[in-house]
Amino acid sequence: MIGVDLGTTTVRIHVKGKGVVLREPAVIAVTKGTMDVKAVGEEAYRMLGRTPGNITAVRPMADGVIADYTLTEKMLKAFIRKVLQGPQRFLRPTIMVCIPSGITEVEKRAVVQAVHEIGARKALLIEEPVAGAIGAGIEIAEPVGSMVVDIGGGTTDVAMISMGGIVVSTSLRVAGNVFDRDLMAFVKAKHNLLIGDRTAEEVKRTIGGAIVTGGGELPTMEVRGRDLIDGMPKTVEVTADDVVAALRPSLEKIAAGVRKVLEQSPPELVSDVIERGIVLTGGGAQLRGLDVYLQRITNIPVAVAENPEDCVVVGTSKALDMAHLLQDARQTYDRY
Ligand SMILES: Nc1ncnc2c1ncn2[C@@H]1O[C@H](COP(=O)(O)OP(=O)(O)OP(=O)(O)O)[C@@H](O)[C@H]1O
Ligand SMILES: [Mg+2]
Repeated sequence: MIGVDLGTTTVRIHVKGKGVVLREPAVIAVTKGTMDVKAVGEEAYRMLGRTPGNITAVRPMADGVIADYTLTEKMLKAFIRKVLQGPQRFLRPTIMVCIPSGITEVEKRAVVQAVHEIGARKALLIEEPVAGAIGAGIEIAEPVGSMVVDIGGGTTDVAMISMGGIVVSTSLRVAGNVFDRDLMAFVKAKHNLLIGDRTAEEVKRTIGGAIVTGGGELPTMEVRGRDLIDGMPKTVEVTADDVVAALRPSLEKIAAGVRKVLEQSPPELVSDVIERGIVLTGGGAQLRGLDVYLQRITNIPVAVAENPEDCVVVGTSKALDMAHLLQDARQTYDRY
């Protein structure tokens, strides 16, 4: 039994009994025209922005939606084949895939089809917040409200869950990638400096945060880029509080999404969440102080799940054993 988290920045695969066996960037490189797969994952990631004319390396699901459906399918197949090497290949596993929230019905069918073509006996789909909640150890089948906020690369998904299904949810196109872009815009405006998205991500991970650092020495980082005026390389210093300021408008959008889901949820479920707290999953949940920031705004306790970036894939794999409890998995299975 295999769980696949088809994330927009990272694809993860969990095999029952083995744990997470694959974590690779959601990137594919193909030959132009023939669309032959040249590389996927890490190898394709290194080619981004460095390919000669006849090859193209892309992120087929950037920003939380499937931008290129054929390439997404090819990438998914290549990753699953990678973990199904050796004798495993003949076992015809059951595969559950966690799909991005912006995915359409047609795309869902394409994902199921791709998984079948690889030789899966059964292909099931699960929504990200439900998988995240299971992976975070929440008892989702109970008639009790749980609130999960998954901050990924492309989207932030906020969901109120009860009895194995989503009661109210919202998906925002504001997550890790937008934070990186916010930071690039900030450095450009303040220092007239152009920085790359990988540099921006590194700054965010190293000194970034959602709340200003209280007391002590302010962490800083030297950032290299290209001066906008004379076009030459330049280095400037960015502080932790600079990052907080740069991310603030995006963080406010996430907070507004959380508030909206709370407002639209039945009062009994909200009361459960006030008691049990909100759980954060996804790579973006690791942004320093994000829990404290959301707690201040909602007045509800907020906790980051353990290994937040793996919650979705672990939950997807675990969900295979509890498909009978999950409303979406059941529906999906019946429908396709
Ligand atoms: N320590 C950290 N601080 C802040 N952000 C982080 C940290 N570690 C990872 N991230 C961010 O987490 C994001 C990736 O999260 P994740 O792997 O959950 O996304 P995904 O599942 O591929 O995307 P999605 O769920 O939107 O489809 C990236 O934007 C990355 O920069
Ligand atoms: Mg994700």
